[in-house]
Amino acid sequence: MSLLTLENVSVSYGQFRALRDISLSINKGEAVAVLGANGAGKTTLLRAISGMLPVHTGRITMGETEISAITPHRIIETGVAHVPENRRLFPGLSVEANLRLGAYPRHARPFFREQLEYVYTLFPRLKERRHQLAGTMSGGEQQMCAIGRALMSKPQLILLDEPSTGLAPIIVAQVFSLVRKIRSEGYTVLIVEQSVRQVLKVVDRAYLLEAGHLQASGSAQEMLDSKTVLHSYMGIKS
Ligand SMILES: Nc1ncnc2c1ncn2[C@@H]1O[C@H](COP(=O)(O)OP(=O)(O)OP(=O)(O)O)[C@@H](O)[C@H]1O
Ligand SMILES: [Mg+2]
Repeated sequence: MSLLTLENVSVSYGQFRALRDISLSINKGEAVAVLGANGAGKTTLLRAISGMLPVHTGRITMGETEISAITPHRIIETGVAHVPENRRLFPGLSVEANLRLGAYPRHARPFFREQLEYVYTLFPRLKERRHQLAGTMSGGEQQMCAIGRALMSKPQLILLDEPSTGLAPIIVAQVFSLVRKIRSEGYTVLIVEQSVRQVLKVVDRAYLLEAGHLQASGSAQEMLDSKTVLHSYMGIKS
């Protein structure tokens, strides 16, 4: 069953068309990657889904709800959680206060205790450091906190924008195994990544964006085997 659907979506920054005629869909329970070089439009795509950018033409639906026509606040209420490129924690608030803020959507509030325990089980480090100011956590810990905060909203769909950026290889491996884990627990994940080989090991399918167009799509294995993906467009980065 399709959870998220984009139909002929175009997004512009002024005169510049950053996304052109994008159609894709994500089924409930799937993990899907969006690949593409710098400037391809990956972040723009996630921003359009979470309502931070208006859709110029086309439509985006979450289940039965047309989310391209409603405010970002109401989009969160439909179960979309966005972990942005630069994490956007509140640095002067504690880890736990940041997590608490993630639980503000109405549907998430009754599950606050339960989700907090879930997040602390997923990331014992966050529990140890729950009173530490988020801004003083290491890069990897802040990424965990940002993902934890998204999970606090009890989302149906998690959007992850390059969660591996700036992290040491061992922490990157942890981030990818986390993606695998939350997917196995039934969360639907849309992840943007430039670490192509690693992300393709943890997702079901992927789309390749090039200069605002969808250039290719396929199963993770097809994309791994695709010379187009690994050579022509991506260079090789693993
Ligand atoms: N606020 C903005 N105003 C004008 N152009 C923008 C704006 N934000 C992004 N762009 C342009 O839109 C295009 C797509 O940007 P986007 O951030 O979506 O790329 P990306 O695929 O996420 O790249 P990266 O891998 O570097 O994060 C780029 O050419 C970028 O310069
Ligand atoms: Mg980006």
